[in-house]
Amino acid sequence: MLVILKRDSHEIYEQAAQLIASAIKKKPALTLGLATGSTMVGVYEHLVRLHKTSSVDFSQVVTFNLDEYLGLSASHPQSFHYFMHENFFRHTNVQPENIHIPDGSIRGNYDQYCASYEQAIRAAGGIDLQLLGIGRNGHIGFNEPTSSLASRTRLKVLSRETLHDNAKFFGPREESPVCAITMGIGTILEARTILLLATGDSKATAVAKSIEGPVSSAVSASALQLHPDVTFLLDEPAASQLTQRDYYQRVLQMTVLLTPDRLS
Ligand code: F6R
Repeated sequence: MLVILKRDSHEIYEQAAQLIASAIKKKPALTLGLATGSTMVGVYEHLVRLHKTSSVDFSQVVTFNLDEYLGLSASHPQSFHYFMHENFFRHTNVQPENIHIPDGSIRGNYDQYCASYEQAIRAAGGIDLQLLGIGRNGHIGFNEPTSSLASRTRLKVLSRETLHDNAKFFGPREESPVCAITMGIGTILEARTILLLATGDSKATAVAKSIEGPVSSAVSASALQLHPDVTFLLDEPAASQLTQRDYYQRVLQMTVLLTPDRLS
């Protein structure tokens, strides 16, 4: 596990975009796992800028989003479909047929639908690089606390904390979704490389538990300790509860020295 500490969120967004861009340069037909949420907006901004300055070409990239709210159509402004199109896809040359986002408008046959999402990931050769944010409760995707660490894409009931965090995005008379379709923790752990971003002090406890706590279904992101190639990109406030920051800095220095490819 590599823990990269940056001064502020802008440096995080920029470095994440650079890492994604260089993965695409190495493998133009990269299968990219994508996330939504406020942390990702800056990353997509940088990726769009890199695309517009012609340094990254998405024409062969295949994308799989982590999750979508159940009950929201693709055109709903709070849907992850809408988020992805507004913040990223419509500004780039990702081909529409290469975009995969769980369909939040399905009614029934959920297991079958989720199995077909897993099958599409397998058919694309598996995810090369998975981008993740983290919830205050340690969720990745919508794998809320107590999710099985072996879980696959499925319907998931949102936790009280997530419902609370989401309420501000929905109008006072609008019901916010109570369920989502999400890749499972087992699905995420099969990605070849994982990049998790966290900014702000509201994420500090979840980050510390994920990196330094025991592996536990109480903190879904702690399962990333089981993965051989994970990078945490953190700003100062998000890293503030880590106890071994100087060690992570030394690991990073040695990584730059001995295995610089890991970071390019
Ligand atoms: C969204 C997702 C979530 C978010 C997490 C952090 O696709 O998978 O796990 O990454 O809730 O969201 P923000 O960045 O809004 O704090």
